[in-house]
Amino acid sequence: MFLRNYWYAAAFSGDIPELKPVARTIMNEPVVFFRGSSGRISAVEDRCSHRAMPLSAGHIDGDVIRCAYHGVEFDGQGRCTRIPNQDRVPASAHIRTYPVVEKDSMIWIWMGAADAADPSTIRDNEEHRSDDWSWTHFYFHVKCNWQLLVDNIFDLTHLAYIHANTIGGNPNTHFTADTKVNFDGERVQLNRRMPNSVPPKSYVDGKGFTGNVDRWQEVEYHPASGMILRVNAGACDVDTGAYEGKRDHGFKILNVHCVTPETETSTHYSWSICTNADKGSGVDKVVFDQFYDTIREDEDALELQQMRINSDPDRPFVGIASDGAVNMARKLLDKLARAESDKIAAE
Ligand code: FES
Ligand SMILES: [Fe+2]
Repeated sequence: MFLRNYWYAAAFSGDIPELKPVARTIMNEPVVFFRGSSGRISAVEDRCSHRAMPLSAGHIDGDVIRCAYHGVEFDGQGRCTRIPNQDRVPASAHIRTYPVVEKDSMIWIWMGAADAADPSTIRDNEEHRSDDWSWTHFYFHVKCNWQLLVDNIFDLTHLAYIHANTIGGNPNTHFTADTKVNFDGERVQLNRRMPNSVPPKSYVDGKGFTGNVDRWQEVEYHPASGMILRVNAGACDVDTGAYEGKRDHGFKILNVHCVTPETETSTHYSWSICTNADKGSGVDKVVFDQFYDTIREDEDALELQQMRINSDPDRPFVGIASDGAVNMARKLLDKLARAESDKIAAE
């Protein structure tokens, strides 16, 4: 199941360098992203209309991309602008273009009807441009269905086991956390608190905690403002204001998880890690490295899950008590899928 009429963060700005085409299949459609010499990003079909050569194998010249095979050229709107040694360019030579927006160092693409794409609905990710945060980003190609990745981010009890050596451990703390799930029909929010708990290794390395902490984890998913999940987490020394909004003195991390389906069983997973850990001290790099290892642990688990699902795809999952937020996210996505198919049926 794919949802097309939404903005997807398919890459970070640094993933699409100037004058180097980047191929990404999204929802089974081959797309090539390219940044011309004006710096503007474009996304068009990765297939030359002449004889199907992938344009990602071609060359960027100014703001057009030139097919590597016989030199036919296309601009960022998908218009064929030149056929060598031929004056007339037939309309059938044009290719599909996709609305694309660069905002807060992320490349957003709209895979649905172009006239429904409204860039003003894309939410801010201000941590990527604020001096208060140090941040970096990574890209993983994960061989799993995109909804497993959404499940994984809402299912934070897995930290106790999969991430025992990084951000997790302490199963009792995770399974007994004070947990609230809110679903308003458009957005799912998960808020977890772990007061007076033992900080995990990455928090100690990031902030140097010597005693227990008041810890929080807050996940927000609002597809109408972009297909990303924002996870705001961190900890303060016990009873120093973490739950009254006074967190700047503590350890704060913010992940932006961009979940973009490639196929039914593979996903482009771009993610950022932002932290208030001291810039320039090297501590922020320690946090980034630990998160890289953490998300690699997720990738391994997700691919193993998908492997078993592939061998018996119709076998249902059995729910457990800690699945509350996962169930709400699935409910939201099912609702959005129904709305999208009803709209298509009515057209
Ligand atoms: S296949 Fe692209 S120019 Fe011929
Ligand atoms: Fe995880």
